Amino acid sequence: MSQNEKGGGKTSRRGFFGQALTAAGTAIAAPTLLNQTSIAKKVTPNSPGEMTVKLTVNGQLQTLDIEPRVTLLDALRENLGLVGSKKGCDHGQCGACTVLIDGQRVYSCLTLAVMQEDKQIVTIEGLAKGDTLHPVQAAFIEHDGFQCGYCTPGQICASVALLEEVKRGCASVVTADLTRPPQLAELSQQEIKERLSGNLCRCSAYNGIVAAVQQALGQTPPSAVADVIFSEAGESA
Ligand code: FES
Ligand code: FES
Repeated sequence: MSQNEKGGGKTSRRGFFGQALTAAGTAIAAPTLLNQTSIAKKVTPNSPGEMTVKLTVNGQLQTLDIEPRVTLLDALRENLGLVGSKKGCDHGQCGACTVLIDGQRVYSCLTLAVMQEDKQIVTIEGLAKGDTLHPVQAAFIEHDGFQCGYCTPGQICASVALLEEVKRGCASVVTADLTRPPQLAELSQQEIKERLSGNLCRCSAYNGIVAAVQQALGQTPPSAVADVIFSEAGESA
């Protein structure tokens, strides 16, 4: 018997590994239980505390039996399996969970699923048309608008909304002339950075993100200009 088992306060090597394996077993069992719970939620309508919620996500009507306290982000990820929207902070601080609701960008961690009935919800999974990427998605790939990719679904959804906001003539806090908000072709880098300031990137892929948005706006990003200069210099060398 080890000193720990005798109550001596020291843990033997064998005892330590035994405890670690027990903890690992618990950790493995926990997600399994979670999965069973979410499956049970799907097949047991209106368990105590639950209510039926109808959501239209990426054009499809979905019926969920969930508690009214469930956030839209958790409903998307845990109940519908749409895990593209990421949970970064769960406090409305990072933007990783950004989705589109009736065309407006929304932090899905800050709104309840039950509040979004009768609205059109679009997640990152719903932007492409079949095998054809949304122009913003294609621009992010072309300009390396990501590194680890964790913030990218939120960045792309926010950028898609940004384009529509500019088309509608929305101003930002850095818009110089509020009577004449900038058009797509003239939106400055400063405007893009300000309008995407609600989406953080821990990898700091901001230069690529801004370049991608510039391309989606119909502008020529500086990185593309530099590519042309370098390739022309290479040809003449
Ligand atoms: S997870 Fe929603 S803002 Fe960070
Ligand atoms: S690409 Fe890693 S957090 Fe943005």
